[in-house]
Amino acid sequence: MLVSLSEILEPAGAEGYAVPAFNVYNMETVMGVAQAAKKLRSPVIFQVYSRLFEQGKGDYLAPVILEAVKGLSVPAVFHLDHGSGQDTVVRALRCGASGIMIDASLKPLKENMEETRKIVELCRAAGVPVEGELGHIGSTRDETASEFTRVDEAVQFVEETKVDALAVMIGTAHGKYKKAPQLNLQRAGEISRAVKKPLVLHGGSGVPDEQVKGAIAQGVAKVNFGTDLCCAFLEGIKKTAEGTIAIDLFMNEPIAAVKEFAMEKIRLLGADGHA
Ligand code: 13P
Ligand code: ZN
Repeated sequence: MLVSLSEILEPAGAEGYAVPAFNVYNMETVMGVAQAAKKLRSPVIFQVYSRLFEQGKGDYLAPVILEAVKGLSVPAVFHLDHGSGQDTVVRALRCGASGIMIDASLKPLKENMEETRKIVELCRAAGVPVEGELGHIGSTRDETASEFTRVDEAVQFVEETKVDALAVMIGTAHGKYKKAPQLNLQRAGEISRAVKKPLVLHGGSGVPDEQVKGAIAQGVAKVNFGTDLCCAFLEGIKKTAEGTIAIDLFMNEPIAAVKEFAMEKIRLLGADGHA
């Protein structure tokens, strides 16, 4: 059942769990995630990196996601992840996205707010909620991490842009961590209480379980998993019996591996049984 980003995040915040947002790349990753959500009766977000829309792959992937969502009785969102600008946002909307992220977090505050507000206005016309990013969540390969999101700036950002969800920098990064991150959970709590909007934790792969749970207790309602889903998929490929040639059969192990991975994260976030 396709729902909007706000519809899926609202009960999560109120009931103290978070909705998992899985980055999907192809039909098989979509299938693994869908099977996990169905089995555990969990709300779920299928999200697609901006890059895939820029390369034309999003156009192929979108109908697959919408088909999976149609077959699910649990609430599900089709979300654009790290939207790079208006063109990509429009493309994702045309493809049926029910959640949009605009990421202008590398720009100075004023420009980030201007661009984000423009996208919120555009998406309002389509009835689609928007996630913005304040404080840049970088890569684990970066030499230095950005500053944590400031509470006063978060308040200003939410007031001026009217975003529906806010991605914050509290110590995570995208990719494989060299050493376990140490999240600033206190900052998450301060921002959450000040902005009264669901917070989004990016870079969920490799964050220790206790810290993920701590972040949820402090107002995080959406947790993104990308890298570790890819790793599960690739491990599944390695397990596939040598000599398997038919591609549909070749893909059975990776689908099962993604399902297992997604089930583990659904349970970690406490989202099981909430649909
Ligand atoms: P990871 O790849 O580190 O899990 O991050 C995913 C993410 O934040 C997608 O936006
Ligand atoms: Zn991210």
